[in-house]
Amino acid sequence: MKLGCCYYPEHWPEERWAEDARRMRGMGLSLVRIGEFAWSRLEPEPGQYDWGWLDRAIDTLQAAGLKVILGTPTATPPKWLVDRMPDMVAIDEQGRPRGFGSRRHYCFSHEGYRAECRRIVTALAERYGRHPSVIMWQTDNEYGCHDTVLSFSEAAASSFRGWLAARYGTVEALNTAWGNVFWSMEYRSFAEVDPPHLTVTEANPAHWLDYRRFASDQVASFNAEQVDILRRLSPGVDITHNFMGFFTEFDHHDVGRDIDVATWDSYPLGFLEQFWFSAEEKAAYLRQGHPDIAAFHHDLYRGCSNGRWGVMEQQPGPVNWARFNPAPLPGMVTLWTLEACAHGAEFTSYFRWRQAPFAQEQMHAGLLRPDSTEAEAADEVREAAMHLDRLGPQQVLRANVAIVFSYEAAWTIGIQPQGQSFRYLELVFEWYQALRQRGLDVDIVSPDADLAGYRMVLVPTLPIMPEGFANKLAALDCSVLMGPRSGSKTASFSIPEGLAPGVLKPLVPIAIARVESLRDGVSEAADGWAVTRWREDVASELSPELTDAAGGGVVYAQGHIRYCAIWPDRALLRLLIERMAGEADVPLLDLPEGIRIRRTASHLFAFNYAAEAVWVPDMGEVLEPAGWHIEPR
Ligand code: GAL
Repeated sequence: MKLGCCYYPEHWPEERWAEDARRMRGMGLSLVRIGEFAWSRLEPEPGQYDWGWLDRAIDTLQAAGLKVILGTPTATPPKWLVDRMPDMVAIDEQGRPRGFGSRRHYCFSHEGYRAECRRIVTALAERYGRHPSVIMWQTDNEYGCHDTVLSFSEAAASSFRGWLAARYGTVEALNTAWGNVFWSMEYRSFAEVDPPHLTVTEANPAHWLDYRRFASDQVASFNAEQVDILRRLSPGVDITHNFMGFFTEFDHHDVGRDIDVATWDSYPLGFLEQFWFSAEEKAAYLRQGHPDIAAFHHDLYRGCSNGRWGVMEQQPGPVNWARFNPAPLPGMVTLWTLEACAHGAEFTSYFRWRQAPFAQEQMHAGLLRPDSTEAEAADEVREAAMHLDRLGPQQVLRANVAIVFSYEAAWTIGIQPQGQSFRYLELVFEWYQALRQRGLDVDIVSPDADLAGYRMVLVPTLPIMPEGFANKLAALDCSVLMGPRSGSKTASFSIPEGLAPGVLKPLVPIAIARVESLRDGVSEAADGWAVTRWREDVASELSPELTDAAGGGVVYAQGHIRYCAIWPDRALLRLLIERMAGEADVPLLDLPEGIRIRRTASHLFAFNYAAEAVWVPDMGEVLEPAGWHIEPR
């Protein structure tokens, strides 16, 4: 695995570039990502390009032996462009324009802005598409960051109408699909349909789901336009996009299909602070991050683009954007880096080379301080580089276990949670964590993936079953676990005929008669586990495999397929995983708190995320805080 960093030559005097490049090499870096926010310097006046500085920056990096990942600058359109096309900005859900002065001030649906993007990407690719140092392109930067997937602009509304017309053919078909007779919401033409915002109370969930699908398609087609240009003008050069953590606003599998390498931006401490983790978890993992945060995304993004993936931005110290921004425990930067390697990353690139003394991110650590002295992470990077060198290339094999991940499922649950603690990402993460705690390697795959060959397949939930998915499960000869709400909606967001789980019923003959959600803190004890958050009342001739304290069916199984009718707590997940692994003959471990392991084809890696030293019986070793152990298999 290679190492790199994110560098902004336009932020620093040119005299410093050569020295920076030399020091990067000295730290063990061989890749540099540049350019992704530089539009105002690449085209200071409309149509007047200034390539000189970028030519020299790339040459300087090349002279030091560094390869370049070049970003297209479309996340930061310059002021003159916004002033020429004021309606290119996104409109938020409250109807307000999202103006100039930071970044991502554009609407994915604005045709004029898209044309400008095609123009700048074409110019950039004509200039650098065959440059020997440019070994990868990054399209834009973090699609959707700062809540920018959804826009309620005129451009978006009119594209949405076209999208609906293409999907439904006639407005009558749309009215029927959405159930618009309810509350007299019927339309007489597609032209009458607006985006689902500014309604008095909630808009129709079917309307929302289609708006989310549409918005996701806009991101994918925006990206595809850049990819087409880059493929033509820069043949053979890999293309990536840097995805985010815990982010489901567009279908990453769709974007992933068009690129060569899926990358993501890994900020384990920021994510622990910002997401649903309990106060205890936030305290226990304050300076390390939760042991599954980075791994979860490594496995998710490996499944987003044919297995090729990397970390485009790795947290090197405190960030600036979470509610609280602690410093990593000494050793964590090395640990995070080696863990990416254990999951098969092609590279890890640190964000950023030098901390900027100005503007929005001046409090965000880099590998260097603003005065160019080394920050804490610098030594850790050198250490990681040394171990990676020794390890050599790592190959990742197909895991025994797959989790099926669906962006559409995230939207469906988000639109109609029916209980505020039913959160899709948290559900999937809990299942992932339960598997990893038992020492299993996991692939996280799309519903379209070929599932043959896995020994355990887990589907935390899939409310809308894609065409053919139930048959695909039926044809497997491995243990399958379906979570609550699977098959509970049709493609147009209705309850299926004959009740949930809809198309799953031939596989597990049950009908969901009623569902209830339970407020936080409610916990109904059963046999060593408890019902929390969500329960379905199941009608079935089948006798349940597990029941709650009142005798209500909770888990039903037929053949190789199980259905779990509650939000399974950790104890129930543990029990179900033990049963599945027993059936599948997959060996389990029982890892101590904070310890995770991961195998490549040639090595076994162990990592200690706990804040204290931990004895790991399976290795016969004590791992220090932020400690790790690697051995050949
Ligand atoms: C990422 C972004 C970077 C930088 C970084 C700070 O979300 O891609 O440009 O803002 O966060 O942590």
